[in-house]
This record gives sequence, structure tokens and C-alpha cells, in this order.
Amino acid sequence: MCGIFGIITSENTEIGKIALDGIKRLEYRGYDSCGIVSHKDGQLFIKKDSGKIQEIQEKLTLDDLMGNIALAHTRWATHGAPIKKNSHPHLDCKGEIAVIHNGIIENFISLKKELLSKGHIFQSDTDTEIIPHLIEEYIKKGIDFQNSVIKTLKRCKGYGIVICYSKEPNFIIVARKESPIIIGIDRGKVSYCASDIPALLPYTRNIYILGDNELAILRPGEVKIFDIENEVKKIERPLKHVDWNIDAAEKGEYEHFMLKEIFEEPDALRKTLKIPENDLRLFAKELISAEHVYITAAGTSYHASLAGKYIITKFLGNYIQEIECSELENQLKDSLRDNSVIIAVSQSGETIDLIEAIRWARNAKKNVKILSLTNVVGSSITRYSNHTIITQAGPEIGVAATKTYTTQVFSLALIGLEIARERNILQKKEIELYYNALKSTPDVIENFLKKTNHSIEKIVDNLERNANYFFLARGISIATAKEGGLKLKEVACRFIEGYSAANAKHGPIALVRDGFPIIFIAPPDETYKRLIGNVMEFKARGGHIISIVVESDEIISDLSDTIIKIPQPANKYYNLFSPITFIPALQLLAYHAALAHGLDPDKPLNLAKTVTVH
Ligand code: AGP
Repeated sequence: MCGIFGIITSENTEIGKIALDGIKRLEYRGYDSCGIVSHKDGQLFIKKDSGKIQEIQEKLTLDDLMGNIALAHTRWATHGAPIKKNSHPHLDCKGEIAVIHNGIIENFISLKKELLSKGHIFQSDTDTEIIPHLIEEYIKKGIDFQNSVIKTLKRCKGYGIVICYSKEPNFIIVARKESPIIIGIDRGKVSYCASDIPALLPYTRNIYILGDNELAILRPGEVKIFDIENEVKKIERPLKHVDWNIDAAEKGEYEHFMLKEIFEEPDALRKTLKIPENDLRLFAKELISAEHVYITAAGTSYHASLAGKYIITKFLGNYIQEIECSELENQLKDSLRDNSVIIAVSQSGETIDLIEAIRWARNAKKNVKILSLTNVVGSSITRYSNHTIITQAGPEIGVAATKTYTTQVFSLALIGLEIARERNILQKKEIELYYNALKSTPDVIENFLKKTNHSIEKIVDNLERNANYFFLARGISIATAKEGGLKLKEVACRFIEGYSAANAKHGPIALVRDGFPIIFIAPPDETYKRLIGNVMEFKARGGHIISIVVESDEIISDLSDTIIKIPQPANKYYNLFSPITFIPALQLLAYHAALAHGLDPDKPLNLAKTVTVH
């Protein structure tokens, strides 16, 4: 939540342009206000306001700021309403120290009281503003800037932060306690920092990932990293190379990132197929030897985990319990045993509830193993995991997860098949049939997208007459129903319930009236026969039935008012991977519904892509 971007060069330049580009690339992290401060010849210049970045640029021309330093911020409000005075950067009383911040300073109330009693005057309602004032307080006592920052940060919890001081024009300070910070160096002349990789892609692929409780001094083209608690100890950190393509972080010919990323799903899956076999084998062996297996995540990643649980359990012969990460400790505090394995799934690798859950599990039992699946190299989750697999979706900018969902389910399916191979439970021929079905999912999606994008627009026109609807399914497709429902809630602001078709008659069916739309996700798997009965029950009450079926489907198609066809063969090998091939239909539905409502699908109301607060 909140995107932060910092840059320092050796000469005065059009620094506002670069800073503006930086926060535009991070807008998915928050978009209720933004601001930039630049340093030029011993003075700070600041422009900020509430609203989306483009609106503020048009009003204030952020890009004409000059100087050798700039700190830029795009905000997702936590403390203080999204209004101008609460937007970042924040300053000390003299306007000499500027700070941009992501996270929550949990103990800010007592620190603010202390500073108020010393005469500091606050301009905002934010937790962030205590930081420049506290640094100012230490500088007043004759302590230098760097040590004042260290003393300040030792007293605070919950930040990714960048700080500059008008009297120290040759360096900026970056620090982290929980919220992510990436540092990039370009040709020895410029240093950058940001809360996420896409902001750095136009300038460098060589990055350092700042660890928790670390602070870095950034000079032009040079970085020194220290431990905040033991500031004399310099940390040697290897550079990491990011091979993400910059085009993947640009909209290109598409109107929105969400649509572009849906169309990128086939390629993302083909890349994910190349996950090293050794990693898959390692995961498989850990899971086979575990006594208890849990899978945990939040949001879309949780739905991917739900689908993955069905696939892996099938081959593991041991039940996998899925738990929302924010509930993991509550549910396992009295039962977690050694020799348990927890699979943690996260696109960003930075979701705070997930990080806390796995940290808790590791501390609770010495021999619990954490296997993580994330899309971001070097993200926080990887530091708390015994082994990590990187899904290969590439950068995902749309706030609503699309290609990262399908690559997560695909990776979990690869792990499942590796388990089947290791356990030797299937004939070679049968394993091959499963592999072939999984490998064909990118082609299935590609064909579907080519044929169906426009017909989904028409379905949306019909649905828009109704305020609410259901997505119903059985078995593994419940994950698809839930994920489809989440997409519509997020981007189209509709109340959609993704639910078990069987359970829907124990209450939700009370809502059905003439024309009430119900979307059934109906691959021809072992749940199909019973789903027919559920379709009939809802039809008998006047429901408008829309079904997502495979091309050869007849029975549910005949019962439906509208049909969306997925071009895949009807057999058990393909059906197991239907969460991958059926979800693009619902992602497209959500996308077109957002447009029909005049909403921007890339910037859903109240959301941010990476949730780094509880
Ligand atoms: C999905 O569309 C949402 N953006 C959200 O539910 C997301 O999946 C959730 O916050 C988890 O994020 P993560 O995968 O980065 O951990």
C-alpha cells in the first residue's frame, strides 16, 4: 500500500519527470493522493494534492520540478483522510527534512504527544509526520543527520521510508521495517529506490532488496547498507538481476492493464511450465514426507490455494487444509505440530498477514517447513521460507490479479503431478495424459480469448439490469466461482456471491426471483451430474441461467439461457485443470462489467495491490 520512489543524481536535472514516471508505475499501490519533493541548491521544493496522479500532474505540473534529489509518493490512506494536507511528502517544522513513507507507525500517538509537548507543529493527521519532527529534534541536539535518522527509526515500527535533508544534498536515506524497499543502481551515476520493481525497470535490472531493519545510504551510483540496530555493521548484499521485460509493465495497445494481463495468461503459463524440475521435486518430497499439510494465502491467492488443494490432495493421499493467512495462528495455535508443511502463496510476497502467519508458525514449532510460491524474486516471503518457487507471470500492474492467479494454480498443479510421479501411484501413460492436459491450458485459453471476448460484452449488457447475482459450482470449481465473484466485486463494484451450488439451497436460494442471474461453472467432471440438479432447482424458481461449459456440453447447455463455451476436451485429465481454463471467462466478465459501469478496472475503489497493513 502506497508507492514510494526516490532518486539521487550528481547534477541538477529535470528530476520531476523521472519521479513522476516512477510513481505512475506504482499507482496500483494506492491512488488517492500523491506528491513529489525535489532538492535543488540547498532548498526543498514540494508539490502535492489529493486525487489521481494524472489529475494532480495536470493541476500542479509535478514534472517541472528540478534538482538532484526527488522523493515521490502515491498514497493509499491509512491515517488521515485522503486530502491534500495528509498527502506525502511530510516535512519538519523548518521545512528542511522531507519524508515519504509506506506502512503504519504503530506507536505514533505517544511519539506525537512527546513532540507536541516540545513545541513541534504538525500539519497533517498522519502517523508519518512524526518522523521528520523526531529527526529534527535529534538534529537540534547536535547529532548529525544520519545518526538522527537511526535514533528516530529505532523508536518506530512499521515503515518503508525515504528521507532527504536540504543540508545534506549528497545522499538520501532509505530504510525498512516490514514494508518493502528495492534499490537500483544505474551506470554508477544515479541511485534509485522504490517500493516495487516495475518503477525501476526503465533504469536498471540490477537491484538490491533491502531487508527488515536495514538502512541504506544512497549516493549517486553508490549504495551502503547497514543494520539499523547495529549501525556500524555494513551489510554486503549481492546484486539481484531482474529479467522482467519492461513491455510487460506497459499498457501497449491495450486500454487497460487488466485486459492486457488477461491476454498475457497463455504466455505466462508457458513460462511457468519452465519452473526448474529440481524445485518441483524438492517441494514434492517435502510434501510427501510431511505429516500435516496446510496451504495459506489471502484474496485471489487464497482462491488459487483452494484450487491447488484439490489438485495436490488428489496425488498426495494426505489431506491439505486451506486456511486464510489472517486466521492461520487462530486456527492452529493449539494444534500445529512439528513435521508440518505450510505452503504459502502470494503474488507480491509482501502481504503482511501472510508474512506474520509464516513467521508465527516458524517460531511456534522448530520443524515446521514453509514452502512458498510467489511472483516476485527476493520478496519478503522468500526470506521466511525453506524453499521458494517463483511463478513466471511477470509484472502484474492491474490491481485485480488475473495472470498471477492462473500461474499460481498452474504451479500448484505442476507440484501435484510431480508428487504423483515421485509416489509412483499412476501408470506412466496416465501421468503423461495429465501433463499433456496441463500443458495444453495456454492453448485452450488462447483459443477462448480469440473467440469470446466480444460475446462476453453482450452477456454483460444483459446482466447489468440486475444488481446482484450468484456464481455457483461444486468441487474444485468452487474456487473458480469464488475467484470470479471476487473479480466482479473488485472491479465492477457488484455484490456477487461465489458459492457452493449444493450449499446455495440452504439459504441463498431465498434471493432468487424471476430473471435473477446465476452463473454455473460446469466442467464435465465428477460433480457435473449433481450440478444438473442444482441448475434445475434455480431454473424452477425463475433464475436466469448462464453456464460456463466445455464445447461438447449438451445437458446443462440445454437448460441454460446463455452459454459460454470453453474449447477444451471433455475428459478427466482436462477437467482437473478447469480452474485454469474456466477463470478467464469470469475475468473478462468482470472487466466488461467495470467498463459498463464507467469504472476504471485498473484502479478499483479503496483497493491497493499489495496489502502491507493488517
Ligand atoms: C486480487 O485481485 C486482489 N488484488 C487481492 O485479493 C490479492 O490477491 C490479495 O491481496 C493477496 O495478495 P498477494 O497475492 O500479493 O499476497
